[in-house]
Amino acid sequence: MPDCTQLWIDRKDIRTTKQVTSALPALGAGEVLVAIDKFGLTANNVSYAVTGDSIGYWQFYPAEGEWGVVPVWGCGTVVESSCGEVPVGDRLWGYFPMASHAILTPGKIHADYFVDVVAHRKDLPAVYNQFRRTQAEPEFLQQLENERCLLFPLFMTSYLIYDYLIDNNFFGAQQVVIGSVSSKTGFGLAQMLHNDKDVSASVIGITSAGNVDFVKGLGCCDQIVVYENEAQIDASLPTAYVDMSGDARLTIALHNHCGEHLVESCMVGASHWQEGGKVGQLPGAKPRFFFAPGQIEKRNKEWGPGVAMMKATAASAEVAALITDDIKVEWVQGAESLSQHWVKLLDNKIPPSTGLMVSLL
Ligand SMILES: NC(=O)c1ccc[n+]([C@@H]2O[C@H](COP(=O)([O-])OP(=O)(O)OC[C@H]3O[C@@H](n4cnc5c(N)ncnc54)[C@H](OP(=O)(O)O)[C@@H]3O)[C@@H](O)[C@H]2O)c1
Repeated sequence: MPDCTQLWIDRKDIRTTKQVTSALPALGAGEVLVAIDKFGLTANNVSYAVTGDSIGYWQFYPAEGEWGVVPVWGCGTVVESSCGEVPVGDRLWGYFPMASHAILTPGKIHADYFVDVVAHRKDLPAVYNQFRRTQAEPEFLQQLENERCLLFPLFMTSYLIYDYLIDNNFFGAQQVVIGSVSSKTGFGLAQMLHNDKDVSASVIGITSAGNVDFVKGLGCCDQIVVYENEAQIDASLPTAYVDMSGDARLTIALHNHCGEHLVESCMVGASHWQEGGKVGQLPGAKPRFFFAPGQIEKRNKEWGPGVAMMKATAASAEVAALITDDIKVEWVQGAESLSQHWVKLLDNKIPPSTGLMVSLL
C-alpha cells in the first residue's frame, strides 16, 4: 500500500496545520482505495472548518485529538479494490478529505454513483456521502473535472437559492441584494438571476473595493455597492437579501437601511468568517439560514427524485462556461504549499479571479 499524505487543521485554531504522512492499512472486505489527484479550495472549505464542530464537518474524515481534516470537492481514481462492483480504474467525483488518498466503503452501488456506507458517516447528510462514478456520466461532464471541483459545488448552491427565490415569487422583492458577491456562490446566483429573462428583479452585489473590477467584468450586477456604502441601495423598494458574507455589521446595516422593505433575509455563507456575531432584533424579515437540502427535498417531491440536482448541474455548467476567462486556475502541489495557501485563504489574500486547485499526490 502507498503512504497517505494529509493536511490536518487544529480545530481550535484553524491557522495551525500539520502535515501527516502515514502508511495506509490493508483494505478490508468491500473497501476501495482512491488516489485523489485534484481538489478545489475556496472560502467554502474555510466555512467547513469554522463550523466543523457545530455542523459536524470534522466527522467525515476523523483525525486524532484536537486535529481535524477539512473535506474538499475533488476527483480521484480507484487504485486498489476489494469491492467487485467498483473496480480499479473507476473515476470518482465527490466529497474527499484534504489528502492524497481515501479509503471508501461503497454501498447502494449504481452505474453512475455509490454511497460511502462506512459506519461513522451513517448519520451525516446524504448529499455528502454520494460519490459520482464519472465514466458513466455524459461525455461533456467528464470534460469538466476542474470545474466540478472548483465551481460546481458552489454554483449548485447558487442554483438552489435562485430556485428558492423563484419558488417564493421573490417574496415580493423588486431587487435582490447579494452580500460578498465576488464569491463563486454569490456571483453564480447573480449570473443565474441576470441571465433569466423571466426574472425582473434587479441584482445588486455588495463587495470589497478591491473586488469591484472583478465583479464588473462578470457583467451580472445592475448595481455594485462597496461595503460601508449600503446607503446607496434604494430602500424604497421591496428587497431580498442573500448573504454569503456572514458579516454581522452588514446584516445590521442593511436591515436598518431597508427597514420593513427588507422582505427576505437569507443567510447562506460566512466568507467573512471573522466578522460573525449576534445581530439581535432587526427591522424587516427575520434572518434565516438557507438549507439547501430542504429545497432539494421539496423539489424532489414536486419534480421527481434527482431532477433538481440535474437542473443544478446543467445551470452550473452554463455559468462555468460563461466565466471560464474570468478565473485563472492556480495549481497547488504538496502539503507545504497547501498549508501556505490555506492561511492565505483565511486572510483573504486569494483574489476572486484565482481558482485554487490542489494535489497532494
Ligand atoms: N449553505 C450552503 O449550502 C453553502 C453552499 C456553498 C457555499 N456556501 C458559503 O458561501 C460562502 C462563499 O463560498 P465560496 O466558496 O463561493 O467563496 P469564494 O469564491 O472562495 O469567495 C471569495 C470571496 O469571499 C470573500 N472572502 C474570502 N475570504 C475572505 C476573508 N478571509 N475575509 C473576508 N472576505 C473574504 C471575498 O469577497 P468579497 O470581497 O466580495 O466579500 C472573496 O473575493 C462560504 O461561506 C460558503 O461556505 C454555503
